Amino acid sequence: MDWGMKNRMAQLIQPDGRALFLPIDHGYFQGPTRRLEEPGKTIESLLPYCDALFVTRGVLRSSIDPNNTKPIILRVSGGTSMVGKDLSAEGITTSIEEAIRLNVSAIGISIFVGSDYERESLLNLAKLVDEAERYGIPVMAVTAVGKELEKRSARYLALCSRIAAELGARVVKTYWCDDGFEKVIRGCPVPVVMAGGPQVDTEFEVFKFVHDGIQKGSIGVNLGRNIWQNDFPLAMIKAIRAIVHENATPEEANDIFNSIKEDSKIQMARK
Ligand code: 5RP
Repeated sequence: MDWGMKNRMAQLIQPDGRALFLPIDHGYFQGPTRRLEEPGKTIESLLPYCDALFVTRGVLRSSIDPNNTKPIILRVSGGTSMVGKDLSAEGITTSIEEAIRLNVSAIGISIFVGSDYERESLLNLAKLVDEAERYGIPVMAVTAVGKELEKRSARYLALCSRIAAELGARVVKTYWCDDGFEKVIRGCPVPVVMAGGPQVDTEFEVFKFVHDGIQKGSIGVNLGRNIWQNDFPLAMIKAIRAIVHENATPEEANDIFNSIKEDSKIQMARK
């Protein structure tokens, strides 16, 4: 591996081998997602606690201070929307020159295995890897399910993750699943981070799945809505950081969450 590639990977994956990526890219197909209407404000207090930010170039330029030194994973696929015919018909939206100009640590692209546009999205990934590797930039593949959240079975996720790695992704982002997640990890020869999907009912559920996924070999998370759509996003990211980087149990993470939540309530009442 070249120095540049090694250095970028080291920016993303911390010395303990773990990673907490904070995605705020949802607007590229969802528009002004709830609590991400003003991305700069959403992440203000959260930025110090993530290891990298997953973002499009538009939000990076308009909402992130260039003095920020957090590693950037640039979302470079898109071209479809929630109201369009088919979310899976994505193309490449951002050139490799732009990624270099923006000084990013990695680029990210979605693949849609099993969809009508499976072939296009997989060939887009392969082409992107060819270009990005030339400049020492790692590609993170996002195994997207579009609106079909029920697709999140171990068999399907293992298939997508392995294909992404075979085509050259250096990191794979996939979903955690209840049954057989260890098979997803075993079948994927590159590091796997877990996304959260839509907000779940309780914080404890999030802590449990993040903890379980890490026990089964995931290196961490690329977790968005379950952090910044929570009423107490700072408490949420700190609790998740404790699981990812300090091996906290779900119960310990819950205690961290509750104590920061109580402090925040006191501070809010004082204002
Ligand atoms: C959306 C993405 C997100 O980065 C990914 O889904 C993680 O976010 P969340 O935890 O909110 O699902 O690829 O396009």
